[in-house]
Amino acid sequence: MAKHIITQNGRLTLACAGTLSEENGMTAAKQAPGHGLTPREFRDVLGAFPTGVTVMTTQHEDRLAGVTVSSFNTLSLDPPLVLWSLSLAAPSLPVFRAAGRFVVNILAEGQEAVALQFARGSDDKFRGIALADLECGLPAIAGAAAHVVCDIHGRAPGGDHEIFIGRVAQANHQPQPPIVFHRGRFGSFQAAS
Ligand SMILES: Cc1cc2nc3c(=O)[nH]c(=O)nc-3n(C[C@H](O)[C@H](O)[C@H](O)COP(=O)(O)O)c2cc1C
Repeated sequence: MAKHIITQNGRLTLACAGTLSEENGMTAAKQAPGHGLTPREFRDVLGAFPTGVTVMTTQHEDRLAGVTVSSFNTLSLDPPLVLWSLSLAAPSLPVFRAAGRFVVNILAEGQEAVALQFARGSDDKFRGIALADLECGLPAIAGAAAHVVCDIHGRAPGGDHEIFIGRVAQANHQPQPPIVFHRGRFGSFQAAS
């Protein structure tokens, strides 16, 4: 059964669609189609999930593309697959589609400025960026905590994004700790013990 958010004294509570009512003074939040959340509430819920920060890089003919991405995740170990999603409105989308491959650059602590640079639309995103020399020949970011070189295994529709599934061809990692992204802010990882 579909879930809806209802608000009570400023707190968000989950309820099943069938029970949504004005009982007990609870008021349904302004509802968006489908999930019952306003766009702001939906973003706030998703922001509760911390992620790392990657920059996806690629090249097709003379066109370079690089995009800051937090939607990266593992998909399968055997075969080795990863996934991420790119906005249908992103100018770099046709470059990733045409290139047929990409590098996942998992950013290390201290690379927050790199994350911001690749999150802004620009004709010259790679200005001032030190590049790593990878065998595949694709542009990659020096100093990243890891590089994962992928061939595009599949693309799938994902609402207002397109899902890229990559089959891992090569990978390396360094000991640097990663950037962590949570509720719209960059931070660092701290182990519990
Ligand atoms: C931390 C962070 C994570 C992001 N994650 C994504 C993502 O997963 N998918 C996406 O399409 N855009 C994401 N963005 C926004 C893109 O980086 C931004 O729209 C970028 O300008 C797109 O590149 P383009 O304009 O060259 O196409 C993220 C931005 C930030 C700051």
